[in-house]
Amino acid sequence: MSSPATLPPALLDSLRRAGRVVVLTGAGISAESGVPTFRQAQTGLWAQYDPQELATPAAFRRQPQLVWDWYAWRRELVAGVAPNPGHFALASMEAYVPTFTLITQNVDSLHQRAGSRHVIELHGNIARVKCSREERVVETWPATEERPPRCPDCGAFLRPDVVWFGEALPAAVLHAASEAARLADIFLTIGTSGLVQPAASLPRLAAGNGAVTVEINIEDTPLSPRMDYTLRGPSGVILPMLVERAWPD
Ligand code: OAD
Repeated sequence: MSSPATLPPALLDSLRRAGRVVVLTGAGISAESGVPTFRQAQTGLWAQYDPQELATPAAFRRQPQLVWDWYAWRRELVAGVAPNPGHFALASMEAYVPTFTLITQNVDSLHQRAGSRHVIELHGNIARVKCSREERVVETWPATEERPPRCPDCGAFLRPDVVWFGEALPAAVLHAASEAARLADIFLTIGTSGLVQPAASLPRLAAGNGAVTVEINIEDTPLSPRMDYTLRGPSGVILPMLVERAWPD
């Protein structure tokens, strides 16, 4: 294990030499922006709810208004926060690396707002909504008091365009992420508990195909024992240091 003050020179060297760098991020990278992670207590009105129980198709069937309102609250929360130094460091890393792929489980757009351009969103994006029956993304719908609002075409409820527990990831998205992992020279896993599949299997796929693996997290995860390097600490501190030391110019 390494502290940020002692970033291993061999890791810095591998980063500088890598043709393909792939990064997988989770809720932890947005924690320093003020977005609560999934396994952290929620705040305010929503403190009594477990996100893992709200983010399911069954919850939406049972209590569509509650689930819609939770996402409306999260959408507002995310719109009111800013990317942190961890997001910005990844955006700048993209400029130094010949082929850089950022895979995120986050639905908050903070990577894009920090300037990252090639982002694979595994779990969708909270800013979009789709028809719960036909899955089609819906841009506009008639103003209504009803929550959730209805699809203008078929009348079914609209829902956030995110992947819920128990739902499959879009095939093309998963394929793109898996291909990137397979080809990676270095694979960095940042701020994810490594508990949710199939995202959690990407570091292993990369390692199995020869990538150097790195974890950045404030604590140990089930992925830690398999990593070549584990950097313990907040990603908003470690990532800027990593980029600055790997590419000092
Ligand atoms: P989790 O909430 O499960 O895990 C967040 C991880 O970030 C934990 O391992 C923390 O230790 C770590 N962490 C917290 N603050 C950090 C910081 N400042 N710097 C570095 N690490 C930090 O979030 P995910 O792993 O993203 O899926 O969860 C995966 C998926 O499960 C989510 O995308 C969501 C979910 O419930 C769906 O909604 C389908």
